[in-house]
Amino acid sequence: MSLHLALLLCLAMATVLAQPHARASDLYYTDITPVTDDSRFTTLNPTAQLSELNKVKHSKGNIVFTAGERISGDRLVVNHYDDESFATAVDIEVLMSYPAGSSTGVTLTCIEIYVDTTASDAGGYLTRGGIGATTAEILLTSNLTRSFVYETFFYGY
Ligand SMILES: *[C@@H]1O[C@H](CO)[C@@H](O)[C@H](O)[C@H]1NC(C)=O
Repeated sequence: MSLHLALLLCLAMATVLAQPHARASDLYYTDITPVTDDSRFTTLNPTAQLSELNKVKHSKGNIVFTAGERISGDRLVVNHYDDESFATAVDIEVLMSYPAGSSTGVTLTCIEIYVDTTASDAGGYLTRGGIGATTAEILLTSNLTRSFVYETFFYGY
């Protein structure tokens, strides 16, 4: 690893570590779960309104989903990472819900989700709440993938 990259990584880690309020425990999340057409979120919740997150594809399977933007005075309130591999290509879903329990009183300003999938595409949707609200429910999907990795950052004040 180059010194430059090592320094960048250190900076990134220090930024996360310096945020004492960033807890994954405030987030409810499902495992990276294989689904079929019968068990998809949209099948089980036919009336749910899915609102697409902003999506930037950096390369095949390397995608960043965002909503809102950082404002002065906000802070990292959730940092959560998960990864899973499968023996065959499967359709997967992840459902995340903030907060996990009773209200934290935090108003969300910015959501960033970094996704890496062996499939060529993934979906990221708000299914409830979002920026300016104190709750957010997010659905991640990827079809016919052998592995799925994501890291979530929620900011708020
Ligand atoms: C995955 O497949 C389902 C069912 O065919 C489709 O509704 C959905 O849009 C697909 N998701 C993505 C991210 O392509």
